[in-house]
Amino acid sequence: MALVTTKEMFSKALNSDYAIGAFNVNNMEIIQGIVEAGQQENSPLILQVSAGARKYAKPAYLVKLVEAAIEDTGCDVALHLDHGEDFEICKKCVDDGFTSVMIDGSKHDFEENIRITKEVVDYAHAHGVVVEAELGKLAGIEDDVNVDSKDATFTDPAQAKEFVERTGVDSLAVAIGTSHGAYKFKGEPRLDFERLKAIHEAIPDTPLVLHGASTVIKEFVDKCNEYGGEIPGAQGVPEDMITTAAKYGVCKVNIDTDLRLAMTAEVRKYLAENPKEFDPRKYLGAGRAAIKDMVAHKIRDVLNASNTK
Ligand code: G3H
Ligand code: 13P
Ligand code: ZN
Repeated sequence: MALVTTKEMFSKALNSDYAIGAFNVNNMEIIQGIVEAGQQENSPLILQVSAGARKYAKPAYLVKLVEAAIEDTGCDVALHLDHGEDFEICKKCVDDGFTSVMIDGSKHDFEENIRITKEVVDYAHAHGVVVEAELGKLAGIEDDVNVDSKDATFTDPAQAKEFVERTGVDSLAVAIGTSHGAYKFKGEPRLDFERLKAIHEAIPDTPLVLHGASTVIKEFVDKCNEYGGEIPGAQGVPEDMITTAAKYGVCKVNIDTDLRLAMTAEVRKYLAENPKEFDPRKYLGAGRAAIKDMVAHKIRDVLNASNTK
């Protein structure tokens, strides 16, 4: 068993009503929890590594841990760079054996975003690696994404078509109202599904990606708060909205915050209930089990992806 690209997973998911979960990984326990869930649910997986994760765990460890996880479980896994900020980091990941990279040129203007995306696509494709890009800007966590003035940063369907044609990118992350972190909406959660449908119509063959897709499930925020300091702000994307997005071209759904909350809640609970325990295997093992449960829930109940391998 070896790492796979997202090509086959996305071609099956594109015109179906399910999406593949893309989960952020930072250490062995998180990787193990995710692949155990993928194995149980018989679903392909995307394991993604941010620049922060590379700095924390070092790329060589993450690549080897993911390879070991595949050997152990037989899961179909794509190893993906999350939010690569320039050509250099994307090139490094391609050279390190990643099968998918994201070049996030969303902070640049349209022409510059096209230029750096195309540069990454040319290099990655020459090495059999697929590329995700982003068009439009996700709101910052402090922003109120419900206000109309934010429209300017949402993805424009006509631009999306031109972007995909000129870059040859394999998948496109879109901005339709989600944002990163534990605080996404000030008022009622709202995603711009009309815009999502229009983008999907404009580029029907391009798998779409939803970043900032955590739900920030109240049960886990409450549990974190019960056993430790308060998590500031808590307002995510309702799970039924994620399920709906999967029907309109969204093939990859990025989830990190919900995993962090699940693991932190369980580790805090374990340590609070076992104050004399100081064996890291005990509390990290509890955290790993919480990751598995959360990922299995997402695959089965939110992404509709069980038995899609
Ligand atoms: O999109 C960001 C992910 O949640 C990764 O977060 O940069 O703190 O590793 P990080
Ligand atoms: P969340 O913060 O909503 O989990 O989003 C994660 C993400 O988009 C990683 O790229
Ligand atoms: Zn993201």
